[in-house]
Amino acid sequence: MPGIILGIESSCDETSAAVITDGRRVLSNIVASQADIHKEYGGVVPEIASRKHVELILAVIEKALTEAGAGKSDITGVAVTNGPGLIGALMVGLSTAKALAYGLGVPLIGVNHLEAHLAAVHIEHDVEFPFVGLVVSGGHTSLYHVTDYTRLTILGKTRDDAAGEAFDKAAKLLGLGYPGGIQIDRLAKEGDPEAVKFPRPFKSSSTFDFSFSGLKTSLVYYLREHPSPDDRELRDICAGYQEAIAETLVEKALLAARARGVKSAVMAGGVACNSRLRALASERFGEEGIGVYIPSPVYCTDNAAMVGVLGSYTFREGRTSDLSLGPFSTSRTKYVRGKGKLAKAPAAQSS
Ligand code: KG4
Ligand code: ZN
Repeated sequence: MPGIILGIESSCDETSAAVITDGRRVLSNIVASQADIHKEYGGVVPEIASRKHVELILAVIEKALTEAGAGKSDITGVAVTNGPGLIGALMVGLSTAKALAYGLGVPLIGVNHLEAHLAAVHIEHDVEFPFVGLVVSGGHTSLYHVTDYTRLTILGKTRDDAAGEAFDKAAKLLGLGYPGGIQIDRLAKEGDPEAVKFPRPFKSSSTFDFSFSGLKTSLVYYLREHPSPDDRELRDICAGYQEAIAETLVEKALLAARARGVKSAVMAGGVACNSRLRALASERFGEEGIGVYIPSPVYCTDNAAMVGVLGSYTFREGRTSDLSLGPFSTSRTKYVRGKGKLAKAPAAQSS
C-alpha cells in the first residue's frame, strides 16, 4: 500500500476518520454523527460531545483503516483538526492523533477546520487557482481568496451569526428541531420565496462581511404578527428565509469574485448542502462565466476526508506540527498563510 495520511476530525459533534492517498484520493471516510443525541437539547452540548468523541474515536479510526484496506504501518502522517471548534471536543481528536503519530514515529499535521472545508473541493474537482472560497457552516461564514492548496487570505466574515446558525435558530423558532437547516431546505421546496420578504443585510454594500442576526430578529417579529402559521405559511416562511440567506451568500461571493478577477469560486461547509444555495450559485455564477464548485453533501458537512486532504498538501510542503500543538476555539485566519508557519517535528519528512 502506498503512503497514506490518516485524517481525524472531532471539532464539533461528528467523530470522523479518513484515509487519504495521492494527496486527495479518499480510500475511506467514516463519520459517526452525534446529532441524534444533541437533538433533544436543541443544540450541541460541549461536555456530551467530548465524552462521545472519547467513546467513538478509536472504533472510527479502526473502521477507516479497515475500509481502506490499510494497516497502521501504512500511515505516513496523521492530520488532525486543531481548531476552530469546541476545545474539549478538539482535545479528543488531537490527543489521539498525537499518540498515534508519536507511537508510529510519523509526523503530526495540524489542520484548520475552515481551511479544510475548502480543501474538500479537491476531492472531486480540478479547480484552477486563484479562486474565491466561501465557507458556510454552523459556526462560521467566511470568504477567502485562495491562491494555492494551502494559501488563503480572508476577505470577510460574519459580524454576528453564521449562516448555519441563522438556519438553526429559525428552525427552532418554527418548531422544526435541531439541526434545522436541512428541515428548512425540505419545507422551502414547497413554499413561495416571494410570499414573505426577509432582509438581505450588506447584500449590496462593498464590504465582504456578512450579518445574519437581523434576519433571525425579523423572523421573530414576523411570528409575533403571524403566530401559529399553518402548513402553507410555514413552507412560505421557510422559502422566503432561505432565499434571503442564499441570495446574500451568492451575491457577496460574486462581488468578491469580480473584485479579485477570479474565474472560479468554491462553496463549502454544511450550509453548502442547501439545495437553493447550490442552484442559485450555479445560475448566477454561470451568467457571469465564473465556474462554481461545491463538494458533494458528504464532503460539505464535517468529515475527516477534508482534513486528510489539507493535511496531505501541507505535508507535501514539508510543514508538520510538533507535539505541543494545542487546540483553539475561534477563527484565527486573519492572516495570509505562508510556508513555515508551523514548526517542524523531529520526525518530519518531506514528500
Ligand atoms: O460544516 P458543518 O457540518 O458543521 C460545522 O462546522 O458547523 O455545518 C453544520 C451546519 C448546521 O447549521 C446545519 O443546519 C447546516 O450546516 N446545514 C444546512 C443544510 N444541511 C446542513 N443548512 C441549510 N440547508 C441544508 N440542506
Ligand atoms: Zn465544519
